[in-house]
Amino acid sequence: MVPTVDGESLLAALDKLARIGAIEGGGCARLALSDEDKAGRDLVVRWMKALGLEVRVDAIGNVVGLRAGREDLPPVMTGSHIDTVRTGGRYDGNYGVLAGLEVIRALNTARITTRRPIAVAFFTNEEGARFQPDMMGSLVYAGGLGLNEAYAAADKDGVSVGDELRRIGYLGAARPGAIRPHAFIELHIEQGPLLDEEKVRIGVVESVQGISWTEYTVTGVSNHAGTTPMRLRRDAGYLAASVNLFARKLAREMGGHQVATVGALSLRPNLINVVPNRAVFTLDLRNTDEQRLREAEARVAAHVAEVAGEERLEVETKVLARFEPVIFDSALVDRVEHHARTLSLDTRRMPSGAGHDAQMMQRLCPAAMIFVPSVAGLSHNVKEHTEPADLIAGAQVLLNLLLDVAEGG
Ligand code: GLV
Ligand code: MN
Ligand code: MN
Repeated sequence: MVPTVDGESLLAALDKLARIGAIEGGGCARLALSDEDKAGRDLVVRWMKALGLEVRVDAIGNVVGLRAGREDLPPVMTGSHIDTVRTGGRYDGNYGVLAGLEVIRALNTARITTRRPIAVAFFTNEEGARFQPDMMGSLVYAGGLGLNEAYAAADKDGVSVGDELRRIGYLGAARPGAIRPHAFIELHIEQGPLLDEEKVRIGVVESVQGISWTEYTVTGVSNHAGTTPMRLRRDAGYLAASVNLFARKLAREMGGHQVATVGALSLRPNLINVVPNRAVFTLDLRNTDEQRLREAEARVAAHVAEVAGEERLEVETKVLARFEPVIFDSALVDRVEHHARTLSLDTRRMPSGAGHDAQMMQRLCPAAMIFVPSVAGLSHNVKEHTEPADLIAGAQVLLNLLLDVAEGG
């Protein structure tokens, strides 16, 4: 008989972890490698040890908890991340990690030892809200970014990943990627509206869309807002505003899966009566189709050049993250669908709009993802919510799938 996950235990763990870095409205602020992230990590590591997992911390701070199998084979790995954006919810990432631990608890209770080992991991700085690129820990794990490059990434105050890892005690000894999994399965909330709108319980994730993050630093000339004729202005803020509007129109015009967001913007001197001489802003472009994403990038670049020329501005461009779309392993994706349907849960195949550690792990081994609904499609928002019944159902799909893959050939 297949064991069942302890739903109450999962909900209690989510609640407990959410108290670390709790912010008004029920959300969480545990930016990567902050004191709050350290406290969250310490708690989850304690839980891993209490469940009997052998805990390994690697040189980029990824944490892997291992449960031995009957045979000494590469483990089937699950997991996600426990860092959050500054205005995050309590489920993004945390759900996948804590559901993984509930799978371990269920196996322990049922005294089941699987053929392959099972590993539950949480990866460093998935969010990319403090340090870029996002999915940093899993990218290093999969060999897509060198350790020294990752250590050098700095936040807005110039504090580096390497220094923060050392400071919070998570610069581990293990080599990232030393454990090459047999397969990787990530359970996550959808973070978008589709499952909730269509009242479908499980999203079978086939792919993750491509991500393009750019930071623009624009230099103009500050001058008096009342006396400077419009024809003489070199307004850095104007370019930032223009790109924001252009990107919105572009996404609407391109349609399909194209999305575009100016999420961070700062002006200097940021005063009511001074033409800004400096603007720093970010642009997040995503598309499921690499060619379309390149087209969006090229059209934005042409717009930036045009406006900069007209307004006589200097523009520095820095790519903060760039990942092509990823297609998950089709056999593993089929298994996700199979196990959801076996539990009488209706399913929908879909791409992921958000970035995930699983997209990096697909470089190393077959990977797939399971989505559960996000109420009203809200995420990266303190009001992020998934109904308890859906959280528990998703965890049971994960358990059944992990058991299957851990026993299989
Ligand atoms: C990560 O959460 C992202 O998709 O921005
Ligand atoms: Mn996430
Ligand atoms: Mn996120």
